[in-house]
Amino acid sequence: MTTDEVLLDDLLRLSAAAGTTPEVARDVASARRAWSTAAAVVIGSDVVSLVADVRLPRRGGVVVACPRAADAAVWAHAVGVGAVDVLALPGQQATLIDLFGDCVDGAGRSAVTIGVVGGCGGSGSTSFAAGLGLTGAGRDLTTLLIDADPLGGGIDLAMGNEHMAGLRWPDLARSTGRLAAPTLREALPRSRELAVLSWDRGDLLCLPPESMRSVVSAGQRGHDLVVVDLPRRLDAAAEEAVIRTTVTLLVVPAQVRAVAAASRVVSAVRDVAPRLGLVVRTGGSAGLDAHQIEASLDLELWASMRPERGITAALQDGLGPLRRRRGALSSCCNLVLDAVQTESGAA
Ligand SMILES: Nc1ncnc2c1ncn2[C@@H]1O[C@H](COP(=O)(O)OP(=O)(O)OP(=O)(O)O)[C@@H](O)[C@H]1O
Ligand SMILES: [Mg+2]
Repeated sequence: MTTDEVLLDDLLRLSAAAGTTPEVARDVASARRAWSTAAAVVIGSDVVSLVADVRLPRRGGVVVACPRAADAAVWAHAVGVGAVDVLALPGQQATLIDLFGDCVDGAGRSAVTIGVVGGCGGSGSTSFAAGLGLTGAGRDLTTLLIDADPLGGGIDLAMGNEHMAGLRWPDLARSTGRLAAPTLREALPRSRELAVLSWDRGDLLCLPPESMRSVVSAGQRGHDLVVVDLPRRLDAAAEEAVIRTTVTLLVVPAQVRAVAAASRVVSAVRDVAPRLGLVVRTGGSAGLDAHQIEASLDLELWASMRPERGITAALQDGLGPLRRRRGALSSCCNLVLDAVQTESGAA
């Protein structure tokens, strides 16, 4: 809402850059009509006192745009209309483009994001990450599975979709700005609800952290669930992913040496992950008890995973890790998804 034609020109240009066309209100009556349904509201500093006077109901996503640095009166009226920010142009135009971009992508949407890291080599973490992705997609959640381990065997190979058309990391490694969420999803190899971002067989082994940041952020805006298969030694790009997780789960086989190795991974990941949990892979001889491992690593136990029958051959044949709907891996993935969805719903 503004009557300042120069400011309006600027705002229309910025919204066009974000791929959206706003409804323009030039008086309080038309602003009132759109007030509660608009994805976001931008009020020009020229009319903010008028809007403050009519005392519209409080709502989120309101900003005041100002063609110069705002004075105290503009700030006072901004508080009066419940604005979250006062943005001076042209200095803060990037923030406005983001605001308009969020309207296109689905404002405020942020996927439940699960990081998966192995406590030792061959722990089963990639299989578990792929299992989570498949289970989420099976629940009709729009799901993004990200392979963040440049030295892993490739999650696309494990899933058997290495021949599917679509972008891989090297195609995205140059993207550092804001990625549009729908564009990312459309561009990736996808099988129904599950989109997968993997490496190709080339020699790119190091991602700029900014690329990971923009991909994970776009993934979170455009999906219900994001799963990230992490390397055991976090590089700068993987750290960007871990910071954005709802929870990061450490997969540890119930064996003494695996627990010893896992304790080293824990000390590296603990400082970065907002929340760290434990998944114990049971089975094999001389197995430790899951609760012993929980106590020894001082991590919250999220699930125990019994051995999945036939998984080695299924992975070898590119059939994916989830062969049986009621198998051990599927049960474990369902348990974890139930827990994380319940908690994020309650948050
Ligand atoms: N749930 C499971 N039950 C039984 N065996 C499994 C399970 N998950 C994985 N495995 C076995 O462990 C092997 C390694 O699995 P996976 O690649 O998932 O581990 P990883 O921790 O990602 O390994 P890396 O250290 O290479 O990243 C598989 O080929 C399979 O033989
Ligand atoms: Mg792996």
